[in-house]
Order: sequence, then structure tokens, then C-alpha cells
Amino acid sequence: MERVRGRFVVLAVTGSIAVYKMIDLARRLTQAGATVQVVMTRSAAEFVTPLTFQALTYRPVEVEMFAMQDEHAAGHVAMGRQADVVVVAPATAHVIARLAHGFSDDLVATTVLATDAPVIVAPAMETHMWRNPATQANVATLRARGVRIVEPDVGPLASGDIGPGRLASLERIATAIDEALGLAQALAGRSIVVSAGPTVEAIDPVRFVSNRSSGKMGYAIAAAARDAGADVTLVTGPTALVPPPGVRTFQVESADDMKDAILAQLPRADAVIMAAAVADYRPIERATTKMKKKDLGSEMNVRLVENPDVLRAIVAARKPGTVVVGFKAETGDATAEAGRMLREKKLDLVVANDVADPRSGFGSDEDRVAFVSADGVEQLPLLAKTEVARRLVEKLAERLAR
Ligand SMILES: Cc1cc2nc3c(=O)[nH]c(=O)nc-3n(C[C@H](O)[C@H](O)[C@H](O)COP(=O)(O)O)c2cc1C
Repeated sequence: MERVRGRFVVLAVTGSIAVYKMIDLARRLTQAGATVQVVMTRSAAEFVTPLTFQALTYRPVEVEMFAMQDEHAAGHVAMGRQADVVVVAPATAHVIARLAHGFSDDLVATTVLATDAPVIVAPAMETHMWRNPATQANVATLRARGVRIVEPDVGPLASGDIGPGRLASLERIATAIDEALGLAQALAGRSIVVSAGPTVEAIDPVRFVSNRSSGKMGYAIAAAARDAGADVTLVTGPTALVPPPGVRTFQVESADDMKDAILAQLPRADAVIMAAAVADYRPIERATTKMKKKDLGSEMNVRLVENPDVLRAIVAARKPGTVVVGFKAETGDATAEAGRMLREKKLDLVVANDVADPRSGFGSDEDRVAFVSADGVEQLPLLAKTEVARRLVEKLAERLAR
């Protein structure tokens, strides 16, 4: 817990039988030099009294939203605003559902909704509740929004069952807190440009050539870089996603537009992360009016021409020291292809993604990637895209600090 000293940690405790374990976590965090603000749900206060936490953290514990002393200063959101990290542990199925749907019906939910700080959720519940598709969908929603989930352990549960659902060890929760705090300022003062999504190459005003990129990876990277304190510009092709708040976003369509938008940002960039799937080809001609089927007949021929290589253009125009990261999505040996791309295009890092695996790649919420650089190949397990994004940000921060 080396990073908690001097930090404001909000420990949000909810109504699981595992509440008693948080007494020890609150004590350890306080001893490690953190200011620990405990906030409890009413259910949590049925298991352990607020007084216990209060005595260990030397701070009043908050339970009731309408009893807060400081309401003139918007006290109901003050803890979320002040937090360096918010830890919801143990997190009940009920609070996970409420957070996934943006409820603000008590002080815990309001604190999480109001915070910009990293949020850690450590679920604890009986196995069937954990495995229930409703809970799993809520956890996936939170994870896709960048919430760090500390997966429950498998083991004996208070219900007498044995299975997943046991609150993760205090060591794992403490590590998640350290990681979140470590990343919090890792890119402070840096300017990062991220591209995302597909490009769309028009055939005529209604038809186009494109690809299956969803933009999820690039959006997750932009959000992770923002959380790490960077000034972030996102250049995105058309996607169904909502741009992350606090990120300067430029919407583009074609590869040409994307190239121009990125090159315009390049002089101020410390790093460019090209997560967009830029179309390799575009139609030679673009009709200005809709091509009519009755004129085309039984065949339609679209001749394509190579698009500009956006990555090469970035590398050629970058100022010394600007880190350039490429992505390689392949259905074959993505790592070998990434190595070739790294050398040929003179990149600093390539993220290799095997999109043949149906759990990984376009449209999914998870990826199995490898980081390929002059340092070698680092294969990661199948991870949530939000987690891959955080690992990439960590890698980038290391690289920029060299
Ligand atoms: C003895 C007891 C133990 C409970 N343990 C858990 C638990 O481990 N996980 C859980 O999700 N719910 C558990 N519950 C149910 C929650 O307390 C209940 O869903 C409550 O509404 C949660 O409210 P909260 O999320 O606002 O704290 C338990 C209930 C009781 C009576």
C-alpha cells in the first residue's frame, strides 16, 4: 500500500456478510497514511456499526444522505468530488445493480455517480447471485465504463456453498487501490492523440466501404489516458459510442479526413495511439448523386484505390520523441505481423490482436493482445478492453519517462 500515503480514499461499504473484513482494510489504509472516509449503506450498518469504522479511521462515518452536516456545500457529492479513489467493498449484487443503472438513491451510489476518481468494485455474494445473468450483465456494464472489478475468489461462502462469490483477499483489493492511484497521474502534463473506430469510404451519398471496427478499444484508451491525467484528443471514425467526457473529440469519416485531423494535432502530441482501423482502400470515384439500380443493371463494379498510409505519414511528420503506437488486427499470427509492422513503419510499440478468436477483437468487450516493441513480446491474457487500455497507458507512461 505504498501509494496511499496522503491520499483521500473513500471506502464505500455495502450490506454483505463480508463487511467485517473491511474493518481490517480501513485500519491498514489509515496506518499506511491514507485519509479514509468510510460511507456505508443502511444495510451495511446492520452488520457493523459506523462507530467501529469511525474509531479506526478517526473520521465521522456517513450513512444518511439527508443528515449530512455540510449540505450547504453540496455535501452529498463532496466525498466523491474529493476522492482520489473510491473503493466499493464488499459490493452487494444490489449496489452493483444500482451503480450499473446510475442510481443515486443513497450516499454510496451518489458518491460513485459524482466522482471523477477511479472506482474499484470488489463484489461479494452467494455463488448463484454472482452467476446470475443480471449480476453478470451489470458487472460487464461497469467494467465497460472503466470501473475496476476485483473478481471474487472461489471458496467456502457464508451460505455453506463452495464457489465463486467470496470477497477477494485484502491483498488483492489493496493492490487494485495501489494500481489505480499509481496510474492516476502517470500521464500528467502529457498530450496524447488517440484514433478510434473504422473509416468510412463513400461510394455514393448512401453507400460506403468500411470495416467491423467498433471503436471500443480506442475509446477505452482515450478514457484511460484521461484518467491518467493526460490532455487527450480523440479522432474517431463513425461509431455507436458516446465520446468519453473530458476528451477533445473530432469526428471524421474517411482515411483522408483522419490523416488530416491527426496531422493537425501532431505538433502538440507526446504520443499518438492509432487504434483506428483505417480502410486500406477507397473507391476511385465517388458519385455525388445516388447510383440508381436501374442504371447499374445486374452487376455493380466498384474499383478501389489504395488509401494514404496514415501511420507512415505520422511517423514522417512527428517531432523527435513523439511515441507512435500502432495496432495490428490479424486472423493469423498477429504477433509476427506486428513485429514486421514495428520495423517497417518505425513504430515504438505495436499492439497485436488475434481477431480470429471470437472472444477477442472487433465488437467484443474483451481482447487478447500482445505488446510488441524493441524490448520484446509481452503476451497478455484475455482481458476487458478497459483493462487492456490501462495496461497500454502504463506502458506508454514508462516509455515517455525514459
Ligand atoms: C445475513 C445477510 C447476509 C447478506 N450477505 C449478502 C452478500 O454477501 N452479498 C449480497 O449481495 N447481498 C447480501 N445480503 C443481502 C443484502 O444485504 C441486501 O440485498 C441489501 O438490500 C443490500 O443493500 P445495499 O446494497 O444497499 O447495501 C445479505 C443479507 C443478509 C440478511
